[in-house]
Amino acid sequence: MEHSPPIFHVLMILVLWTVVTAAFIGTAEGHRHHRRGGRATELEAFHYAAAGAGGCRAHVASLTDFGGVGDGVTSNTAAFAAAVANLSKVACDGGAMLVVPAGRWLTGPFNLTNHFTLFLDHDAVILATQDINEWPIIDPLPSYGRGRDSTGARYSNLIMGYNLTDVVITGNNGTIDGQGETWWEMFRNKELNYTRGYLIELMYCMQVLISNITLVDSPSWNVHPVYSSQVIVSGITILAPVNSPNTDGINPDSSSNVRIEDCYIVSGDDCIAIKSGWDEYGIAFNMSSKHIVIRRLTCISPSSAVIALGSEMSGGIQDVRAEDITAIHSESGVRIKTAIGRGAYVKDIFVRRMNLHTMKWVFWMTGTYGQHPDDNFDPNAIPVVQNISYSNVVAENVTMAAKLEGIPGAPFTGICIYNVTAEVVKSKKPIWNCTDVEGVSSHVTPTPCAQIPDYPDRITQCPFPEDDLPVDCVGLTECSHQRTKP
Ligand SMILES: *[C@@H]1O[C@H](CO)[C@@H](O)[C@H](O)[C@H]1NC(C)=O
Ligand SMILES: *[C@@H]1O[C@H](CO)[C@@H](O)[C@H](O)[C@H]1NC(C)=O
Ligand SMILES: *[C@@H]1O[C@H](CO)[C@@H](O)[C@H](O)[C@H]1NC(C)=O
Ligand SMILES: *[C@@H]1O[C@H](CO)[C@@H](O)[C@H](O)[C@H]1NC(C)=O
Ligand SMILES: *[C@@H]1O[C@H](CO)[C@@H](O)[C@H](O)[C@H]1NC(C)=O
Ligand SMILES: *[C@@H]1O[C@H](CO)[C@@H](O)[C@H](O)[C@H]1NC(C)=O
Ligand SMILES: *[C@@H]1O[C@H](CO)[C@@H](O)[C@H](O)[C@H]1NC(C)=O
Ligand SMILES: *[C@@H]1O[C@H](CO)[C@@H](O)[C@H](O)[C@H]1NC(C)=O
Ligand SMILES: *[C@@H]1O[C@H](CO)[C@@H](O)[C@H](O)[C@H]1NC(C)=O
Ligand SMILES: *[C@@H]1O[C@H](CO)[C@@H](O)[C@H](O)[C@H]1NC(C)=O
Ligand SMILES: *[C@@H]1O[C@H](CO)[C@@H](O)[C@H](O)[C@H]1NC(C)=O
Repeated sequence: MEHSPPIFHVLMILVLWTVVTAAFIGTAEGHRHHRRGGRATELEAFHYAAAGAGGCRAHVASLTDFGGVGDGVTSNTAAFAAAVANLSKVACDGGAMLVVPAGRWLTGPFNLTNHFTLFLDHDAVILATQDINEWPIIDPLPSYGRGRDSTGARYSNLIMGYNLTDVVITGNNGTIDGQGETWWEMFRNKELNYTRGYLIELMYCMQVLISNITLVDSPSWNVHPVYSSQVIVSGITILAPVNSPNTDGINPDSSSNVRIEDCYIVSGDDCIAIKSGWDEYGIAFNMSSKHIVIRRLTCISPSSAVIALGSEMSGGIQDVRAEDITAIHSESGVRIKTAIGRGAYVKDIFVRRMNLHTMKWVFWMTGTYGQHPDDNFDPNAIPVVQNISYSNVVAENVTMAAKLEGIPGAPFTGICIYNVTAEVVKSKKPIWNCTDVEGVSSHVTPTPCAQIPDYPDRITQCPFPEDDLPVDCVGLTECSHQRTKP
């Protein structure tokens, strides 16, 4: 039987954490940090989110303090760079928050800093420039060996964190608009010489919070924590046309202790995709994605998965927990994608309480995904897929219940499916098509394939871990910024 989530509710209680940042204003120190040319922008009082104790910032500045102009036309690339450079100096002196006020702030890519909060006002829109010359070229990810769209380097991400500790991107549901249409067009026309940038990438970062913002029209992936740990993504909205190329929602990649909760994602690719590097590059880099929890996700992605594991998984994927998942229209639920040459493993995956509507396959696993970075992949690098559990799933208006396709000679094992009802409509193909997989099931309608036989009396549940992950113990706190007088 299901046990209720442990002390999770207690952990989720928002702690009111009032820091009198006003104490800093009006002091010599306050003036030093808030002013340039004798004037600092007035900021009204507001609340902002932090993860755990210590995330409330001692220093607060507005983008306008650094010459920012929110007219939708003027470039703010230099203003963001100046602001971050300036505020990085107080990282160890209580940290800083950069406020992006109401307005439309056109910018090229910029980097974040340590102990730093980027706060977007409700009516603030950060607009990614469509001037391709403003996007620096950066190295490909070492675990991929090349860009994802093309060989070689890649364009910078719009907002990038590199080797940082304690970084927050939050707001009153302000917007980051990737203005991706021109990138999608160039990608479709094969005009790009480098891989498209992501909207937010955090690389080698610890203690990350992304909350209460809306991301629209990314050129490619939206949120990409890579080689990072202690990452919380909470209450964000991601919107992209359902036919836009590779606009994945949130992609934890070679990252551990990741918590994704209360997100609403409409996209042209997987709403969430957990990854860990690509073939021989990922095997050599050898950094897994593990201890990941996803809860209360709502997804619309008609041609992709609600949650994908892979296809790049060559550092391994282990201990993923997904619960209370709603999909309104998708191609498949929690999908496993891998191939010979990937190596590593996808194991200990636990899914419960999915409510799915309009989809092609409720369950989909693929051992022949293909897509190699180059011809140097190791044909003996056979991925292991094992210990995969799904319980309490209701699916309506589906075309097929399952397509479970393992690897000949290396079957996917330990699959457990319990308490599932799939309303299959007008299927011409077999409702279950299973090859090279082994597992058990119970209380599943329609009747599963012979490889996942129904044991109504022996199976009373599929496993779901009862312990909390370390990242579950991080409380979201609410800081309050007092009104700043100019
Ligand atoms: C940037 O930081 C320096 C030193 O911390 C400070 O004197 C200066 O006023 C700051 N500039 C702005 C625009 O806040
Ligand atoms: C951001 O930092 C990375 C890593 O140091 C660097 O490659 C990139 O050029 C920086 N981007 C900008 C816009 O400064
Ligand atoms: C970033 O961190 C990585 C891994 O810890 C390290 O190898 C690299 O030197 C760091 N780079 C910079 C620019 O700090
Ligand atoms: C999130 O944004 C809403 C406005 O859309 C605001 O009322 C709320 O206080 C914000 N919450 C946090 C934790 O920042
Ligand atoms: C944030 O804004 C988006 C886009 O306007 C909206 O769909 C979403 O409901 C808002 N979220 C919150 C928490 O207000
Ligand atoms: C790609 O490279 C070619 C050849 O150098 C150049 O003509 C073209 O403008 C480049 N495309 C883009 C989008 O930069
Ligand atoms: C990857 O690292 C783990 C330890 O974290 C080690 O046990 C394993 O052998 C390594 N795999 C490869 C392919 O190097
Ligand atoms: C599956 O994972 C759970 C939780 O980590 C563990 O208790 C169990 O032993 C695993 N089962 C197999 C067959 O590996
Ligand atoms: C059922 O799914 C089909 C696509 O397979 C879709 O066209 C139809 O609108 C869906 N019906 C409902 C009631 O959602
Ligand atoms: C089976 O799943 C349904 C829908 O999620 C749920 O309401 C019900 O309690 C579950 N039954 C058992 C015995 O777990
Ligand atoms: C079942 O799946 C296998 C492996 O993908 C495929 O070759 C076969 O055609 C499928 N069978 C049917 C009847 O669709």
